Parts: sequence; C-alpha cells; structure tokens
Amino acid sequence: MKEILGQPVFTSEQIQARVREIATGINSLYAGKELVVICVLKGAFMFFADLLRYLEVKPELDFVRIASYGDATTSSRAISFTKDIEVSIAGKHVLIVEDIVDTGHSMDFLLKQMEARGASSISLCALVDKFERREANVRVDFSGFQLPEGFIVGYGLDYAERYRELPDIRVLELVEE
Ligand code: IMP
Ligand code: MG
Repeated sequence: MKEILGQPVFTSEQIQARVREIATGINSLYAGKELVVICVLKGAFMFFADLLRYLEVKPELDFVRIASYGDATTSSRAISFTKDIEVSIAGKHVLIVEDIVDTGHSMDFLLKQMEARGASSISLCALVDKFERREANVRVDFSGFQLPEGFIVGYGLDYAERYRELPDIRVLELVEE
C-alpha cells in the first residue's frame, strides 16, 4: 500500500484556537469542582497536553489505554484495558479526553467501566467526532471538530504508529501499488 499524505483538514492554528474554546467550556462547567481528567492513550496525548494548559480547574490526571480485538466491521469486538487508571474516581467528576469517536464502541466500553466505579459525573471530550459512523449510543459532550468521513493522521493520530508527531491533522490516503 502506498500512503499519500493530503493537505491539512485542520491546521495547527485551527486546532489551537479550538482547543482554547473547548477549555473555556470545561472551565465553566467544572469551576470549583473536584475533577479527574483521563487521557485515552495513545492518540489523545497531544490534545490532552495542549488542553491542560488552558484548564483553570486544578485537576487530577490519569491515563488509560484500551484495545479492541476482532472484526472492527461488526459489533462482535472484544474491548479491554491494556492500561487501567490508577486514581480513584469514586465521588469525583470525570472528564475523558479521547482523540476520535468513530463507531463509539471504545467509548461505550470505557464510559460503562467508569460509571461502575461511582464517579459523580462523567463527560466525554473528543477532538474529532465522526458522528455519522456511530453505532453505539455515545454522546460527545465537548467536541473539537466533526468529520463525516476519511482517515486522518497527525496531532496524535496515527496510521500504524506513524504520523503522530505532525502539528496539523491531514487525510491519509491508502492506494494499491
Ligand atoms: P471506535 O471504537 O470505532 O469509536 O474507535 C475509535 C478509535 O479508532 C479512535 O480512538 C482512534 O484511535 C481510531 N480511529 C478512528 N478513526 C480514525 C482516523 O481517522 N485516524 C486515526 N485513528 C482513528
Ligand atoms: Mg484512540
């Protein structure tokens, strides 16, 4: 497969401006509250790091990593933690920071797991919401950008562990050689 990197769909400047706007919404919702912000590895690492710089609430931070196995085109996937959070979230407000919500199966799993641990509230923040591809009933509370279709890389997002370092988000086209 040949990989063709397209022009930016979201530039670094657009991303930074949007990240500040999202942070404003988060700051007003959680003012004076005890908040745990959870980064979903690996894709959200850059978004998480930028977002945190604009947060005025003094949150506890943690990281989680989930893997999904099986056929991605059906709902018969098995999702599990490859790294769980380490802080207790019981009685606290939780904000999950994810890169992309696509079918929603990954976040459906994570939200249910977090709910079972007695958080006071749980919100989901995603940089990109591929809302038209949703299969699970997952609501994105803070969404950066909406994208109907296309495979994107950069700003944390990868294809086979590459392209995460790019400052812009670009479409990656895969063509037969
Ligand atoms: P879901 O369970 O279908 O919602 O899967 C979402 C996950 O798939 C995201 O957290 C990403 O890691 C990955 N993903 C979905 N679309 C893209 C994309 O366009 N580029 C890179 N990763 C993607
Ligand atoms: Mg991900």
